[in-house]
Amino acid sequence: MKTEKDTFRRYTVTSALPYANGPVHIGHLAGVYVPADIYVRYLRQQGRDVLFIGGSDEHGVPITIKARKEGITPQQVVDKYHALIRDSFKAFGISFDIYSRTSNAIHHETASAFFRKLYEKGEFVDKVTANYFDPEAGQFLADRYITGTCPHCGNEKAYGDQCERCGTSLNATDLINPRSTLSGAEPVLKDTHHYYLPLDRYEPWLKEWILEKHRDDWKVNVYGQCKSWIDHGLQPRAVTRDLDWGVKVPVDGTEGKVLYVWFDAPIGYISATREWGQEQGKDWEPYWKDEETKMVHFIGKDNIVFHCIIFPAMLKAEGSYILPVNVPANEFLNLEGDKISTSNNWAVWLHEYLEEFPGQQDVLRYVLTANAPETKDNDFTWKDFQTRNNSELLAILGNFVNRTLVLTQKYFEGRVPEAGELTDEDRAVLEALPHFPGRISASLESYRFREALAEYMNLARLGNKYLTDTEPWKKIKDDEARVRTILNISLQVCANLSQLGEPFLPFSMQKLRDMLGLELFSWEEGGRTELLQPGTLLSQPGLLFSKIEDSEIEAQVNKLQATKETNLANNPVKAEPQKEAVSYDDFVKMDLRVGTIMEAEKVAKTKKLLKLKIDTGIDQRTVVSGIAEYFEPADLPGRQVCILVNLEPRDIKGIPSQGMILMAEDADGRLVFMQPGDKVSPGAGVK
Ligand code: MF3
Ligand code: ZN
Repeated sequence: MKTEKDTFRRYTVTSALPYANGPVHIGHLAGVYVPADIYVRYLRQQGRDVLFIGGSDEHGVPITIKARKEGITPQQVVDKYHALIRDSFKAFGISFDIYSRTSNAIHHETASAFFRKLYEKGEFVDKVTANYFDPEAGQFLADRYITGTCPHCGNEKAYGDQCERCGTSLNATDLINPRSTLSGAEPVLKDTHHYYLPLDRYEPWLKEWILEKHRDDWKVNVYGQCKSWIDHGLQPRAVTRDLDWGVKVPVDGTEGKVLYVWFDAPIGYISATREWGQEQGKDWEPYWKDEETKMVHFIGKDNIVFHCIIFPAMLKAEGSYILPVNVPANEFLNLEGDKISTSNNWAVWLHEYLEEFPGQQDVLRYVLTANAPETKDNDFTWKDFQTRNNSELLAILGNFVNRTLVLTQKYFEGRVPEAGELTDEDRAVLEALPHFPGRISASLESYRFREALAEYMNLARLGNKYLTDTEPWKKIKDDEARVRTILNISLQVCANLSQLGEPFLPFSMQKLRDMLGLELFSWEEGGRTELLQPGTLLSQPGLLFSKIEDSEIEAQVNKLQATKETNLANNPVKAEPQKEAVSYDDFVKMDLRVGTIMEAEKVAKTKKLLKLKIDTGIDQRTVVSGIAEYFEPADLPGRQVCILVNLEPRDIKGIPSQGMILMAEDADGRLVFMQPGDKVSPGAGVK
């Protein structure tokens, strides 16, 4: 990926508007808000004109469903979550210039006007289709409001858009015996008309704009998704819905219709900008209409098509807006090996983190950046969280700063000493320093935040090593002049850390600058070797980071374990339908035994395969088994399994495998041992 040349006069940076039907979790933070915040803090520190937009996405069917379930109005749902999300973002240091919401009057007005303009320009096509209608409730039904029997697996509680048992995505009309969840009535098909945005018309333009112009500067994952959408051929997309929650369609004869949530939500970025302009007495238009503005959308990968294809087509159709220069979408973050899931409560919620780890915002910001799912899905584990805090933030950055400040207090009453004659090791540090701002910039400007953070930590490492190598505490007795130089240089490194770390660790860097008596300087000042003047009196040092204890991590892991158990109790694995009958004669042909695993090792160049040596009582034989994702080879010797010993041998990755071991699959698809109550001798039959 190339970095686009930055000659822009101003920046409009948007971050996906979270649905206000649940709190924000670490997946949202790692994918969108933390990188966006790092980017804007960096741009501001460069003195650029930046507007950072956030807000709640308050329309759409899931919000109306949540309201029905809880017996409250959709407005009450969004009021609750909007406030929760807004406050937790603020406490976490996500530095929006405005955090707005799409239920605001200004948004309804902006979205309506946008729709009307497209309507008047003839940019929509009008189509009549047959849709399910609830005759008792007297309204059309969104797919999610219809349940019935899945034609693929027989699940009687499949939804009109998807069967959650077999995972197939469905059309409501595929369901057998469909029912409305509003009234229980059988829905009937009824004609309804909707407006469609003819995306097919934009295909040639999108090909040129994305596939040619942005081939080299958009992330590979983003470009790839766009290409695949475009290559499959774009279809007209309905931009209105039969629903009573949302922005009313501003055209006569559209009673009971609202704009599709994905039509109005991205316009929310524009409404928020207008609201900011009103609040600040500033002109909002250049942020959306001036070609010298660089617009960047931070989003997660499930939002790519909307931000790269549909919204740009809308903007193009409207005609007066600029388009995004980049859309640095991230992949997903998993939690302890499993997909984050709001409905299963499998998440680390931001508002809970803030309560349980008060004052430790930067630790989470750090871990989520260091582990950001920039090029592939990534995993968050509490163990890694602890290690990154204790052995990186605390042991490297915190330790270096603390030793430097404490020694300066002790030897020089907290005054910055003057440097004297320089040795080679001093010069090495002073020569390295000026390279850091440029290197960190280059990474940040190409949206490689993990790399930028790693580069920053290299500066802390450099300082820490310098102090350890020069050992001022051993020299203070005989060579105070030398110690003055060492501490002067260490303090200059601390000063640089306090500036260059601002985008990543804003809370700790504010603390550090307070200790050093420094303001936040512009980015270009970073790398200077005289940020602190000799003689300056420093404040008493405090700690930037503190150790995270095993007990804190255990508490979090236990909390997740409890969630797992609750989920399992609530959703026991649904049994698959029974297979075709087999004869007794066929059954007794299978020779099933108990075996004891003797050895286990990974099969090279495969992800899933383990090579097992199993004592079957008959012999010791090799079995290749696809269980490597679930077990560490070292944990397996001694465990007993049920093995089909007379399965025809076959070669797997060139290894002759003799037999097959039997395991159980748990609710989330992991394989587990079936635990026999007692130890059994290898070779015992299974009957
Ligand atoms: N609410 C959407 C989601 O959480 C994101 C909307 S982004 C915007 O996936 F462009 F519509 F604002
Ligand atoms: Zn199904």
